[in-house]
Amino acid sequence: MSKTVRVQEVVPYSLLARGYDRVMAYVDYSAWACYVHRLIQRFLPGASSLLELGCGTGSLALALQPMGPYRYHATDRSAAMLAVAREKAACSNSPVVFTEADFTNYRVAEPVDVVLLLFDGLNYVLEPEGICALLRSTHAALRPGGLFIFDQSTPANSLGREADFEDAGETEAFRYVRRSRYDPVRRLHTTLFELEIGGQRYRERHVQRAYTQREIEALLKTQAFQIEAAYDNFSYRPATETSERIHWVVRRIS
Ligand SMILES: C[S@@+](CC[C@H](N)C(=O)[O-])C[C@H]1O[C@@H](n2cnc3c(N)ncnc32)[C@H](O)[C@@H]1O
Repeated sequence: MSKTVRVQEVVPYSLLARGYDRVMAYVDYSAWACYVHRLIQRFLPGASSLLELGCGTGSLALALQPMGPYRYHATDRSAAMLAVAREKAACSNSPVVFTEADFTNYRVAEPVDVVLLLFDGLNYVLEPEGICALLRSTHAALRPGGLFIFDQSTPANSLGREADFEDAGETEAFRYVRRSRYDPVRRLHTTLFELEIGGQRYRERHVQRAYTQREIEALLKTQAFQIEAAYDNFSYRPATETSERIHWVVRRIS
């Protein structure tokens, strides 16, 4: 008789955090940071206070902060991701401050020049009302004229190379199997991470929604934001409905 292996469901990122950087090793955060730095220079030269939302383990923050005279505050709702970010910041003597916050409902003590939200954070918001709440909080967090720079992964990305993806690997913290499925009708992208730690198996279920460019544009109009640019995937070409990742630069106008 085969033994039933119990898989314990845990909160997204609570265990993945310890091996996240290894699982995401293909991401070139220095190149991403250069691109974001150039966007800031182009649209708000002289910006000095940055707030990053959904910062994860802080890889972008630690690469971007030294590129300018940036006072950098980074937030995430996952305590486990922030713990890794703080360890990395301490090792590199970084002045970036990390705190826990849900980006759909947050406040800042002082308005900032630039708010950032990169690498699919927005896609974790499953309902348009949640995006409106994120935009409301972000509008209030920016000084007039300040920028919100964010990206989104699109249905074209989910339908393309990321659909029905599967891989497996090992980090210092766990062995993992990652299975990704896309439901094109509901436009929900579900990634299951099965993690094995010391003989025990755990599962994290990450659900993201693929919004279209038009949907995000319409939601931006619910707040006093002016769209400065919607770029195709780390370029300066205008995004189209076939873009897999869109980088938005929007400005608080009042
Ligand atoms: C794909 S990871 C990206 C992390 C990081 N930006 C990077 O580039 O590696 C998405 C991050 O968004 C965070 N997140 C998702 N929803 C959130 C919310 N409502 N408020 C704050 N953080 C959130 C998760 O905890 C996770 O760290």
